[in-house]
Amino acid sequence: MSTVSWRSGAGRGLARHEVADAQHPKFYNHPSQKSFRSKSSGKADINYYDDEDNEEETDLATNSLLNKLIRKSLVKSSYNVEVLQKDPTSPLYSVKSFEELRLQPKLLQGIYQMGFNRPSKIQEKALPMMLADPPQDLIAQSQSGTGKTAAFVLAMLSRVKADQTFPQCICLSPTYELSLQTGQVVEQMGQFCSNIKVAYAVRGNRPSKGSVIAAQIIIGTPGSMLDWCFKLQLIDMRKISVFVLDEADVMISTQGYADQSVRIKRNLPKFCQMLLFSATFEDSVWLFATRLIPDSNIIKLRKEELTLDNIRQFFDPCENKEQKYRALSNIYGIITIAQAIIFCQTRKIAKWLSQEMIKDGHRVALLSGELSIEQRAAVIQRFRDGKEKVLITTNVCARGIDVEQVSIVVNFDLPLNKDGDIDCETYLHRIGRTGRFGKKGLAVNLVEKHSLNLLYAIEKHFNIKIKQLNTDDIDEIEKIEY
Ligand SMILES: Nc1ncnc2c1ncn2[C@@H]1O[C@H](COP(=O)(O)OP(=O)(O)OP(=O)(O)O)[C@@H](O)[C@H]1O
Ligand SMILES: [Mg+2]
Repeated sequence: MSTVSWRSGAGRGLARHEVADAQHPKFYNHPSQKSFRSKSSGKADINYYDDEDNEEETDLATNSLLNKLIRKSLVKSSYNVEVLQKDPTSPLYSVKSFEELRLQPKLLQGIYQMGFNRPSKIQEKALPMMLADPPQDLIAQSQSGTGKTAAFVLAMLSRVKADQTFPQCICLSPTYELSLQTGQVVEQMGQFCSNIKVAYAVRGNRPSKGSVIAAQIIIGTPGSMLDWCFKLQLIDMRKISVFVLDEADVMISTQGYADQSVRIKRNLPKFCQMLLFSATFEDSVWLFATRLIPDSNIIKLRKEELTLDNIRQFFDPCENKEQKYRALSNIYGIITIAQAIIFCQTRKIAKWLSQEMIKDGHRVALLSGELSIEQRAAVIQRFRDGKEKVLITTNVCARGIDVEQVSIVVNFDLPLNKDGDIDCETYLHRIGRTGRFGKKGLAVNLVEKHSLNLLYAIEKHFNIKIKQLNTDDIDEIEKIEY
């Protein structure tokens, strides 16, 4: 397997990050060894805290990529897939096994080689639709990690005519890195289909005008794909039989990408199958999806909701960060903590806290926006493997990344939004659990006395009571363990 690594400065604008060592020996036209200058985000620091060193927010694309880098397995859902068929009278097929799809044996072999035993929930319904004859259009939404990418990769691989060496599938992805990720899935799943090739229409990979592209599957970002299709005339649009738009939610957050995608799509032939995927489905995504693919079949899998129901929450009013640290040390001295995540408002505080904890002999992982994406993924992975017992972080990449095995979450600072108001949604993301993981959790909020109104706002928002904890009282701390 080839390795792909990412180097970057700030955590924004994935497409601008430097890329190194991207080599796919088995496939043509891979943009190997190219490097791109990363620019700083140019985003003004937000001064809602007594500290100039504020953390930058991560963007959707970074989160999406990090999730993929650290995810070990399929995310399962307790909800049913909702299906809206374009033609409600046609029968709705669902499969419980990959055999039922009657795939080419080599493709099936690739699927099993990847360790997939049976289709995921969304794949059960999406695959028969995507592989049907005549081909059907599909808009599919389900949360990250539920098997969307694997589903359309399978569809592309099974539609491709391997003996015909020209582009047949176009797959749009919002960033360079995500394009490579999808390419790797194609590579893995198609490992036994020796004549199927992938090419990457991404920045830095610019074959000369009119070159012959033998690859059947072209993956890339909208801007470069437009160039490949029109300026460089590398792709005969009339011969494209599958068009995939992945990560529609991330795509529309990048300026220009929605329009460029529409321009590409407009030039595709009538018989071309259109497939669109998104992890979320706000109105804006929905509007874009239905504008791009009107009259499509639609399938949706509801996201598992986070709840605070089985989380015991406490707060301790403190004067300053030193006192907060003392509170934390007292808790650590008394209860047994398997693994903890500690959230700070700024990089500076996170760094200071990690230094204090290291001095006290803790094994600490520090996650902040100054790390490259690859470094962040590695930090999270080490923590997941239990190599470090404490993860200190700002909001960077902690959002949307599940930390189910953690026994305690400490808000060293409460989450604030840009206006300096309490950010209840982030609070829920930090400490909430999905119903499936019914385990009891523990959350401790260390709050400056002058900011207690923020805590009361959380209580009011969620209609909960957060108990006060006196961290100087050993007996009181002992009680929270149970
Ligand atoms: N049928 C399956 N059985 C087991 N594992 C699977 C199956 N389908 C996908 N996976 C694995 O689950 C993980 C998530 O799958 P995939 O990347 O396709 O999800 P996704 O919905 O596209 O997520 P995202 O929104 O983050 O792109 C991957 O590690 C993938 O290899
Ligand atoms: Mg995906």
